[in-house]
Amino acid sequence: MPEYSVEQLLDHVNSSYSKPGNERVRKIAERMICHIYSVIVDFNVSHAELWSLFTWINDLGTAKQAGLLGAGIGLEQLLDILADEADKQAHRAKGTPRAIEGPLYIPNAPLSKHEARLDDGSEKGEPLVMEGTVRDTQGKPVPHAIVDVWHAGQGGGYSFFDPSLQEFNYRRRIETDEKGHYLSHSLLPPGYAVPPGSPTQQLLDVLGRHGNRPAHIHFMISGKNHVPLTTQVNIPGDEYLNDDFAFATRDALVVELHKITDPKKIAQYRQNGPFTYIEFDFTLQVADKELPTNRQAAPEQE
Ligand code: BEZ
Ligand code: FE
Repeated sequence: MPEYSVEQLLDHVNSSYSKPGNERVRKIAERMICHIYSVIVDFNVSHAELWSLFTWINDLGTAKQAGLLGAGIGLEQLLDILADEADKQAHRAKGTPRAIEGPLYIPNAPLSKHEARLDDGSEKGEPLVMEGTVRDTQGKPVPHAIVDVWHAGQGGGYSFFDPSLQEFNYRRRIETDEKGHYLSHSLLPPGYAVPPGSPTQQLLDVLGRHGNRPAHIHFMISGKNHVPLTTQVNIPGDEYLNDDFAFATRDALVVELHKITDPKKIAQYRQNGPFTYIEFDFTLQVADKELPTNRQAAPEQE
């Protein structure tokens, strides 16, 4: 057995392969291993600290919180910044600003044409009507676009992750009509908080950080020959609007809320009383071969 120096051990670890494997993954792993070595050396990491790290990583995996942590250290926002930068470099017309998907998306929500009620009626809250038009960057409406929308329930949790909510509560897909119009009825959501005591929150605690997101509504919008858009709208007035744990709020995505009390409007939108109204149009980029037309949905996370 050779006696390695730190550098020799690192070189040996990073060159100890006998099959081609996946070159991109190997290069990324090499770089990451190199950084981990530097951290261990520079911070004189102890055996106890290393083992507590392994235990925490195992707990993070058991809780399926890798995506949650990733958002909390800005990784999803980083990819959006890079995509924005690539649009700028390529002089591509910008659509509605991107915002992170987050780890709480569930595919295949019930599909309705033009209009949907997102909540299942099991909770009480401020009734919310949201409507708008999906257009492309040339201003043309996008008929039959799919507006996949999801948001938190009144307790701040999401169906499939919060056992108090039934499947697909506050999750729907709405197909726009011939004019690209969509209409949704729901309840105004509160903000989200990382589960207390969870591995992600444990890390945030030692970093002196909170795990709160301001109130928001998620959208994933796709239309034939258009680049799918993943975004969110933010509800104004939330104390975390400029202090989002996932660094994902954007000024252009903060909507205006209108309180509707006019009985005619209440009847027009088939509400039972006063409600909050949001009008928001989405703009999709027209697809070209440079732009991906599909985005990987996150696997189930806690
Ligand atoms: C959310 O949008 O609800 C969310 C995003 C990132 C991490 C956790 C939750
Ligand atoms: Fe969310």
